[in-house]
Amino acid sequence: MKILETKLLADCAADLMEAARLLQNGQVVGIPTETVYGLAADACNEQAVRQIFAAKGRPADNPLIIHIAQLRQLQMITKDVPKLAWALAERFWPGPLTMVLPKRSTVPDVTSGGLDTVGVRMPAHPVAQALILLSGSALAAPSANRSGYPSPTSAEHVMRDMQGKIAAVLDGGICDVGVESTVIAFDDSGTVRILRPGYVTEQMLLEVAPHVILDPAILHQVGQGQTVRSPGMKYQHYSPRAHVTLVKGSCEAFAAYFLNHAEAGAYALVYDDADTIPGVPCLTYGTNGQEQARQIFSKLRALDDLGVEQVYVRAPDPDGIGLAVYNRLIRAAGFEVIQV
Ligand code: TXA
Ligand code: MG
Repeated sequence: MKILETKLLADCAADLMEAARLLQNGQVVGIPTETVYGLAADACNEQAVRQIFAAKGRPADNPLIIHIAQLRQLQMITKDVPKLAWALAERFWPGPLTMVLPKRSTVPDVTSGGLDTVGVRMPAHPVAQALILLSGSALAAPSANRSGYPSPTSAEHVMRDMQGKIAAVLDGGICDVGVESTVIAFDDSGTVRILRPGYVTEQMLLEVAPHVILDPAILHQVGQGQTVRSPGMKYQHYSPRAHVTLVKGSCEAFAAYFLNHAEAGAYALVYDDADTIPGVPCLTYGTNGQEQARQIFSKLRALDDLGVEQVYVRAPDPDGIGLAVYNRLIRAAGFEVIQV
């Protein structure tokens, strides 16, 4: 079905009801979550889920995350949930943690990208929770960007990427976390494997799980034909139109590198005003992991709005939530990282 105009809905009772009705009718709606905006549809309606893939231009083998509002919904879509998963749910849900678990046949193969597992999370954003309850369904939702582009952290970002492709976008304000959820799988009953870093860090998971390991694909490029635990790791990601080069080092070393190597018209993306380089067009993205997570995608998008062709980004500290920001940036940079 061709949609001509995407409605922008507000965070009020009438518009929430309208969004829920659209979802019940098998339509796709852009929704706020605490991490990034999602492109939501009834997770068990194959036709609706196909429209998500079409709107994003997403490869069919890249599975979607299912969003729930109550633990009983977890039992409807998954089976053999390990004890450790229940303990992690107790500690981190609602919140930015996605757990990959064996799926039930209630979840169509389109939703899980043909896998026998499914990623599930309970979002903390009140608008997302209300919509799941009002629509009466668990909602499949990938990030609401065009495939490959930086994730959206405002309703305006979603409108830009999805105008004319989906029924509506529900505006729930700017996303608090700013990077996508931490995705984990269970290697055995006591070992959690982080497939994608996010707000919930290795350190936080260790408060509940005896062993936590980082999947090597978090920091390293996946080779041709190599098997991956999470299909999303294979694809190019988070890239603005501007060419991104990630530069690791002190503020002074970054400035010196930029002045010696940058071509005319290049921008620098630095931490804060104290780091700006005289005579060089600069944007900032914050001084700590939380600020950097909140701002990174909107700053990458802002560079595109400015028509920038080349940007040098001062690499974040890859500690705590900074690892999530670093992981997104090395992908945006096509793994082009320079140590100065
Ligand atoms: O914060 C988030 O997680 C956001 C919001 C909207 O909830 N969603 C999101 O979805 O980032 P998406 O589709 O952009 O990223 C989901 C990631 C992909 O890398 C995908 O490959 C992985 O999770 N994933 C999903 N299901 C999986 C499964 N069954 N096994 C392994 N990886 C899975
Ligand atoms: Mg995504």
